[in-house]
Amino acid sequence: MELSQEDIQSSVKDFEDLTEEFKTFSASHKEYMQKLDELNAIQSKCLKELTHQRYRLGIIKSSLKKFSKKPESKEISEEIEKGISRRKIQLYEMEEALPKKNGLYLRIILGNVNVSILNKEDKFKYKDEYEKFKFIVNGIGLLMSLSNIFINSRVLDLIFMFMLVWYYCTLTIRESILKVNGSRIKGWWRAHHFISTVLAGVLLIWPNNSVYYLFRPQFMWFNVYISLVQFLQFRYQRGCLYRLRALGERHNMDITIDGFHSWMWRGLSFLLPFLVGGYVWQLYNAYLLYELSYNPEATWQVPVLGGLFLTVFLGNVITTLMIIPQKLKEKVKLKQRFSQTVSYLRRQNREDSPPRPSEESSKSKNQ
Ligand code: COA
Repeated sequence: MELSQEDIQSSVKDFEDLTEEFKTFSASHKEYMQKLDELNAIQSKCLKELTHQRYRLGIIKSSLKKFSKKPESKEISEEIEKGISRRKIQLYEMEEALPKKNGLYLRIILGNVNVSILNKEDKFKYKDEYEKFKFIVNGIGLLMSLSNIFINSRVLDLIFMFMLVWYYCTLTIRESILKVNGSRIKGWWRAHHFISTVLAGVLLIWPNNSVYYLFRPQFMWFNVYISLVQFLQFRYQRGCLYRLRALGERHNMDITIDGFHSWMWRGLSFLLPFLVGGYVWQLYNAYLLYELSYNPEATWQVPVLGGLFLTVFLGNVITTLMIIPQKLKEKVKLKQRFSQTVSYLRRQNREDSPPRPSEESSKSKNQ
């Protein structure tokens, strides 16, 4: 097909139009780059000021210790102490919107890429997605362990164990990202997922011998149970996540925090017996593997797996026992955290927004 003169002219015209549009786009892009530079500069400035604030608070706090025992300065030092606690909460809130450095593990696997999420809503979405990810993989794990109970296939076993290695490894990465973004997840739960990765790896390379088949049925039933417990955990953790988000948006802190706590205790009391069941099972796995390690066909994987199950059992029991007294104290901290946040935000809103007519009239009356 031959091109007519008109077609060529129309293409030239289109390109000229597009070039005009490109000029506008180019100007917008230049402005965007400038703003990015400004943003980087102001982020660095805020980070420096944050470090400075914390450093000076530390010095003031240690100098307070010297004269807080004297009766004449007791009152003023108590006032300053309260001010320091308030400031720490404000700094914590401000830090949430600033980029943070990756921990060692993330630096090793991801390099120095920035994984900070600076917006509260996006943080919430990331955590919610993490919970959903666990829920879906658990569902798949439940189906696979159930089918492994009824079908004896080495290939299916290996696929299941490979999936466990991948799942726990992914959890450790996601949890490290959550940690950088302010999650209060305890060190043990992260360590637990590192240990579970190793445990699943050792299971994957366990030779296909008679000792393996003595442990296999119990291990598959154990996985069915753990998957069901994880569903209960999912319900509880998601409930906490949504309620805590709602708390930050409400105004009557006392009522909502009390409500949250009574819901949380009900959730925990329901979940705890199932967790204990899981821990007993982990101990029993360790015991059975210990017994099996005396079998003449036992390879090194047997005592190692026994030791890993025992470690996981001990860590889980100790951490869960520590959580309960901590939760009892937490209510006061939570009230402080949210009431400080709300009053801080209210103050900021007041500074940002123009005074309301009633405020203006009362101001002018006062003048
Ligand atoms: N895995 C991942 N994250 C966890 C976690 C776990 N096992 N336990 C708590 N967290 C997270 C919470 O989601 C929360 O995150 P956030 O700061 O981003 O909001 C943070 O850690 C602080 O949680 P905390 O208040 O200490 O505990 P909780 O009320 O959320 O949960 C338990 C308490 C006991 C219900 C929970 O730790 C749990 O389910 N533990 C059992 C895990 C286990 O033993 N698994 C094996 C099954 S037998």
